[in-house]
Amino acid sequence: MQVGKLNVDSNAFLAPMAEITDYAFRTIAKKYGAGLTFTQMVSAEGVIKNNFDTLRFLTFSRKEKPIGVQLLGKEPDIVGKAVAELVRFNPDVIDLNCGCPVEKVYANKMGAYLLTHPDELGKIVKEMVKNSSGIPISVKIRLGPKDRVNVLENAKIIEDNGASVIIIHARKRADRYDVDPEWEWIAKVKDQVKIPVVGNGSVFDAEDAINMMNETKCDAVLVGRGALGNPFIFKQIEELKKGNKYIPTIEEIKTVAIEHVELLRREQGFDVHLDRAKKNIIWYFKYQNGVENLISELYSATDFDRIKEIINIHIEKLATNYYPQIDVEEINRKFNNRVLFWLAKEEEKVFG
Ligand SMILES: Cc1cc2nc3c(=O)[nH]c(=O)nc-3n(C[C@H](O)[C@H](O)[C@H](O)COP(=O)(O)O)c2cc1C
Repeated sequence: MQVGKLNVDSNAFLAPMAEITDYAFRTIAKKYGAGLTFTQMVSAEGVIKNNFDTLRFLTFSRKEKPIGVQLLGKEPDIVGKAVAELVRFNPDVIDLNCGCPVEKVYANKMGAYLLTHPDELGKIVKEMVKNSSGIPISVKIRLGPKDRVNVLENAKIIEDNGASVIIIHARKRADRYDVDPEWEWIAKVKDQVKIPVVGNGSVFDAEDAINMMNETKCDAVLVGRGALGNPFIFKQIEELKKGNKYIPTIEEIKTVAIEHVELLRREQGFDVHLDRAKKNIIWYFKYQNGVENLISELYSATDFDRIKEIINIHIEKLATNYYPQIDVEEINRKFNNRVLFWLAKEEEKVFG
């Protein structure tokens, strides 16, 4: 399937998510059919300074292709130089982050700040394209700054300066996740530009994805929170397009959860990353009974083997209907509003 210059197997993509879309997460999303995945945002300045953490965050394996990398930046010259560096890694897309609402990023004139500075935005995109050696440049934007929508103006600037794809998170900068996305703006941008448009915002299941494609005519959908603990969503979308419903069995969820822990162990190596494994396991089982019990068991785990043991015990208990019924509505409410489900510390880290 072609999305502009991009050759992908599916038009359901995995969104960049800081502290989440690492190698393990992306590998599993790809295995379940994500047509394109993204590394988390990194600073353009970090790239040109060879900052160790920056490079670690954007490293990817050849097996992961097609893959996108995402830059945060404000000076056209620096972002351009970072793109020239990234070309050596041969990613399939290089994205500019123009949506990050975090105060620290905004104060630094990056992310969503660029939404109100179209001249700067245009110059950055132009410089990115100039340095990209033909690798498609995408720009991920929101509908507008605090309280107005200027997505049509920004989309035109992005297209006019040579970007290949526009990704639209259909919320304004000030909107938190409890505000419904306004998908109709994705349709308006699609009407206006010739380059492919990727829609994003509250796709939590396959039906949402199909609805977004039908309502907005977007070329692809980008799934963020809907993929947490649910890489199956990509296969579900492809199956639903053919009229089929795919529901993973609890055994399959267990196998994938354990594979996720193994991949994290391999990628990260040391126990510092246990927290990330725990976070993902909670997401995998969040709609199963006994999730609160699972959380408290995981809390005290101090190595990867113990995590796997806890998963196995949990599955055995699920099989014997050991736990009382959970309230799925309540779980959904917490998850959708709080974003990072029970992990307030992480939420603070990501959202500043
Ligand atoms: C924990 C977390 C981290 C995120 N990190 C990034 C990021 O690094 N770059 C980016 O462009 N968007 C980031 N986002 C925004 C998502 O890519 C996406 O635009 C947003 O979550 C809306 O999609 P959704 O409703 O499918 O979750 C992040 C979102 C979450 C929840």
